[in-house]
Amino acid sequence: MLLFLAFCALVLGTSLAVPQQQQKEECCHAELQSLIERQDYLTKQMKSLETAFYTVHHARSFGSGSESLFVTNGHEGNFDTANSTCAQAKGFIPSPANEAENNALMKTLQRHNKEAYLSHVSAGYSNWAPGEPSSAKGAESCVKIDDDDGKWRTTSCEEQLLITCEFSFV
Ligand SMILES: *[C@@H]1O[C@H](CO)[C@@H](O)[C@H](O)[C@H]1NC(C)=O
Repeated sequence: MLLFLAFCALVLGTSLAVPQQQQKEECCHAELQSLIERQDYLTKQMKSLETAFYTVHHARSFGSGSESLFVTNGHEGNFDTANSTCAQAKGFIPSPANEAENNALMKTLQRHNKEAYLSHVSAGYSNWAPGEPSSAKGAESCVKIDDDDGKWRTTSCEEQLLITCEFSFV
């Protein structure tokens, strides 16, 4: 008798459990399906963004031979102003890492016929003018790049120079 009751309880329990489980599976299957669709959609979006991004990147590199983009807002400012302006724009004070980048920056400056600040110079590449870097002239702890020949010189951090930022890809 006890065994029979236990059997009944088991059958009842199973019959109650099955529809619930089915319902649950239906729910999650639909959710999973929509997640998969969403994932496909996002993957396609990513691909087209990536294509757009690299197209711009390759066009820039083709034009300037540089992996970086140098942009000026056309205004002038001292070093602090330039630095904070660049930081706000998610860029930074230029730090050309090779000749192609130095030339790309120089060409940007030539369009405005003005010099610009460089950030503290990276190891590996430099383009100092003869006799530079020089600290002989007192409080010249900033570095600028000449728009005519791309040469670097120390300068006062208060000089009003063309605000120019570097934006780097990848
Ligand atoms: C330039 O600006 C950034 C961001 O505001 C700051 O962290 C950094 O110290 C500044 N650099 C200099 C040399 O002032």
